[in-house]
Amino acid sequence: MEIVFATKNKNKIKEIKLLLPKKFKIFNLDEIGFKEDIIEYGKTIEENAIIKADFISNKFSIDCFADDSGLEIEALNGDPGVFSARYAGTPKNDLNNIRKVLKLISKKRNKKAQFRTVIALKTKYISKTFEGILKGTISKEIIGSNGFGYDPIFIPNGSSTTLGEFKSSMKNMISHRSIAVNKLINFLNSNKIV
Ligand code: IMP
Repeated sequence: MEIVFATKNKNKIKEIKLLLPKKFKIFNLDEIGFKEDIIEYGKTIEENAIIKADFISNKFSIDCFADDSGLEIEALNGDPGVFSARYAGTPKNDLNNIRKVLKLISKKRNKKAQFRTVIALKTKYISKTFEGILKGTISKEIIGSNGFGYDPIFIPNGSSTTLGEFKSSMKNMISHRSIAVNKLINFLNSNKIV
C-alpha cells in the first residue's frame, strides 16, 4: 500500500518507517513535491490532524495520514494544547514555552498533565482518527536535556524523572505518539485496504 505521511519532520518519518511492515510504502511531503506549509487553522489537536490529512488527500488524490500533538495541563484548562508549539509566541522556542508553563503553574497544587497525539487517516473510503495519551505531572524545574519540546518538565506517571532524562528508545516505548502510531498500524494491518 502506498500512503503519504503528511509531515516534514524527518524524525517522525524515520520512526514510522521502522514500525511499519515493508508492504507499506510511505512517502513524505517532499517526496510528493509538496513544499508549502499546510495552514493549521483548527481549534483542537484533532481538527488540525484532520485538516492536514484531508488537504493532502484531496490535493493529490492519494491515501494519507497526518498527526498533531500537544501538552494538556489540567490546572490550565488543557492549555497549551493545540498551541503547544508556539505557546510563548513566534518563532517557536522550546525553552520559552517551558518557562511560561513553569511560571503559570508555579502556584497551582494540581500538576497533572498529559501529552496527546491524534493521527488522522484519510483514504478513498475511510476517515478515522487514532489517539495516544501519555499521562504524568509537570516538574517544579527543568531536568535533563534529552528529547524536545516539554520533555524536560514532564514526569510520566510511574517515573521518578522527566522525559528529559529518558533515552529516546525508552521514550518511544511509552510515548503518546507511539501509542497512536501502533493503533494506526494495527488498523491498517487488520483491514483489507492494504
Ligand atoms: P507536533 O504536532 O507533534 O509537531 O507537536 C506540537 C508541539 O507539542 C511540539 O512543538 C512540542 O512543543 C509539543 N510536543 C509534542 N510532542 C511532544 C513530546 O513528545 N515531547 C515534548 N513536547 C512535545
